[in-house]
Amino acid sequence: MSTNQFLSQTVLNLEESATLMMSQMARDLKAKGHDVISLSIGEPDFDTPSFVREAAKQALDEGYTHYTPVPGLIELREAICTKLKRDNSLTFEPKNIVVSNGAKQTIYNLCQALLNPGDEVIIFTPYWVSYIEIVRLAGGVPVIVSADVEQDYKVNPEDVASAITERTKFVLFSSPSNPTGSVYTRKELEAIADVIAPHDHVHVVSDEIYEHIVFDGVHESIAQFENVRDRTIVVNGMSKGFAMTGWRLGYMAAPEFIAKACTKIQGQVTSGASSFGQKAAVAALLADPNVTKEMMKTFLARREFVIGQLRQIEGLKLSVPEGAFYIFPDCSNFFNKSYEGSVIKDSDQLALSILEGVKVATVSGAAFGAPNCIRLSYAASEAQLAEACKRLQTYFEAMVD
Ligand SMILES: Cc1ncc(COP(=O)(O)O)c(C=O)c1O
Repeated sequence: MSTNQFLSQTVLNLEESATLMMSQMARDLKAKGHDVISLSIGEPDFDTPSFVREAAKQALDEGYTHYTPVPGLIELREAICTKLKRDNSLTFEPKNIVVSNGAKQTIYNLCQALLNPGDEVIIFTPYWVSYIEIVRLAGGVPVIVSADVEQDYKVNPEDVASAITERTKFVLFSSPSNPTGSVYTRKELEAIADVIAPHDHVHVVSDEIYEHIVFDGVHESIAQFENVRDRTIVVNGMSKGFAMTGWRLGYMAAPEFIAKACTKIQGQVTSGASSFGQKAAVAALLADPNVTKEMMKTFLARREFVIGQLRQIEGLKLSVPEGAFYIFPDCSNFFNKSYEGSVIKDSDQLALSILEGVKVATVSGAAFGAPNCIRLSYAASEAQLAEACKRLQTYFEAMVD
């Protein structure tokens, strides 16, 4: 029997995470001595603030080394309610909150709790890579609603309306968005809420994990709208805003029956998040929200720099990202041109060729449902970004018909 025959159909059908794969390829090339600049990573290049690390150390010394209640420590669930009120004007109670090992697990729990085979999930595209696979793992069917660079990658409400069927379970999207950095305005979200509202059977999963990284305007939650409030699940976490990716802490605020269902799943799968990590999350969430501002200013300066540099590359189509730390240029003008004798047909080939040719790691847009694009993360130092932009310019200028 081959090893593949021994594996489940589920895992054989699962796509590997393209972002993690590209980061690994960059590491492998580095290990061979190549000078690779990685713009493929999806995590802040800052350390967790020291007061948060101190809170974890203190929690360990105070004996927070045991299991917690499955949905999280009550003081953390209360802190999350305080945060949702303070930052988003949303009213939730601890019974609505489930803390998990990252927002990724939160979305996994939700899909396992809500989807029957054949149920449809409308996913705004470009999408975060894992949405599709997590939906499929639960037997769900992803339904794509796309927006391109000319629309700043923000979907039309009419397209959402026409994607809704009897089988639609929920609509799933992130704002600010990974991979595009687009941020939906209050008005845009209201228009989306208005098309969902008449369909009682449709819920909304609003992934707000980049909420603290917004440069233009303010972060808005679709949960603020009366007509979808009771059917909206807010997903958030500590990874991006507080530079706590390795802590694995995320959470949802949901109608009580959904929170209970997710707790039931989590109780059989992980038993909940780490106890001392949860104590640190309390400190982070109850701190002055301005603690995340410094990081945001740095990201903003980098966005300005990288956008300025990329604008000099004739043929790249750019949408200026209003949040997160990604830029998602449309590179379709370069398809069917060649680089050093090889014709580039799509974004997979382009990302690979850029890595091999000028040693800059990006991620192919195909992984995000946008095969005309590549994703660049600017969670890198100013010096690295300057060098990477120079190399990208050299690469694109060397392409010929
Ligand atoms: C849009 C989006 N949602 C969720 C996550 C997962 O975050 P966590 O580290 O909390 O699992 C990510 C991480 O890249 C993301 O980009």
